Amino acid sequence: MSTSAAAKFTNPRARFNFQGRTCSISGVGSYVPAKILTNADLEKMVETTDEWITARTGIKERRLAGKDEFTSDLAAQAGLRAMERAKVKPEELDLIIVATITGDMPFPSTSCLVQQKLKAHRAAAVDIQAACSGFIFGLEIAQQFIMSRTYDTVLVVVAEKLSSIVDWRDRNTCVLFGDGAGAAVLQNRPNAHGLLTAVMVSDGEKADLLFMPGGGCRCPATEESVASRQHFLRMEGKETFKNAVQAMETAAREALRRCEIDISRIKCVVPHQANRRIIEAVGERIGARPDQLFINVDRYGNTSAASVAIALDEAVSSGRVQRGDLILLVVFGAGLTWGAAVIEW
Ligand SMILES: CC(C)(COP(=O)(O)OP(=O)(O)OC[C@H]1O[C@@H](n2cnc3c(N)ncnc32)[C@H](O)[C@@H]1OP(=O)(O)O)[C@@H](O)C(=O)NCCC(=O)NCCS
Repeated sequence: MSTSAAAKFTNPRARFNFQGRTCSISGVGSYVPAKILTNADLEKMVETTDEWITARTGIKERRLAGKDEFTSDLAAQAGLRAMERAKVKPEELDLIIVATITGDMPFPSTSCLVQQKLKAHRAAAVDIQAACSGFIFGLEIAQQFIMSRTYDTVLVVVAEKLSSIVDWRDRNTCVLFGDGAGAAVLQNRPNAHGLLTAVMVSDGEKADLLFMPGGGCRCPATEESVASRQHFLRMEGKETFKNAVQAMETAAREALRRCEIDISRIKCVVPHQANRRIIEAVGERIGARPDQLFINVDRYGNTSAASVAIALDEAVSSGRVQRGDLILLVVFGAGLTWGAAVIEW
């Protein structure tokens, strides 16, 4: 255990002398499906090459959920692992928040299906949607319930079966995404470990950079909508890239400013894993050393909401992060949405 950083920086949550309550992340977990789709496999599906994908994105392979494996299944597995680490039983959960853009069905909520799979019968269950920013938005919402004394134990799960909304004929997008899930248990704990600050930003003016036209009330499923491939995600890659770098830099700086710490104090920067070039550009702009950046996009591609939670779990379980270390999470996604969070582990 490294020495607690608590005394040496400003915790924005402490401004009111913790008159609310404190909230810890008492366990994280993740789950990815077994099936691996490599760049070599993609070469057989669309006109692309391993060299192009590696050079432009850093991705080498991604995971694909099975035909009968759904977002709620991935979510339940990740949730169970986080609960094991937190030593929390299903009946202790007060609330389950699931962030996803690929729920099992438009309704009921995927969180209700996860509640059933976890047998967490006491827990209220609700879905949120902030695309790739879902983990930070979910953590912050969960923390508010704990600090307001509404709930003691909240499970935040981020899970995606993006392979179900990727157009496997579109080389511009299909090489980028993968399936997976991550989870965190948040609890009221009598010390300051946990989410010190969370920056959440949204900009609906740029909703058309990354979206899925079909399936909502604007474009319900018809033979035409299916034939014209409206039920797959669409993205303006170059514009999304530029916005991502700028937004992630701004959010990261704001989160550090709120805690009055310099980037050198951060043990591990865990950014949204969309593209290695985005991660490196953001790292350079915020003055992070390469060894501070956690990168696993090569193995999973972009798993949207799940990406930063899977990365956090791997950073913790591999020993890169010890109790008391400071972690900076940075996210960006459709909406547009973006954000950053400082965690004292
Ligand atoms: C998608 C992305 C990797 C493309 O990289 P890029 O450097 O911008 O590449 P370009 O868009 O300039 O495309 C260059 C060429 O490669 C081609 N190309 C696109 N996908 C390809 C693929 N899989 N294989 C081979 N060539 C491909 C394009 O058709 C284009 O060809 P052209 O010049 O003949 O038109 C990059 O824009 C990106 O990562 N964007 C952000 C994606 C993201 O993070 N989204 C999620 C945010 S949460």
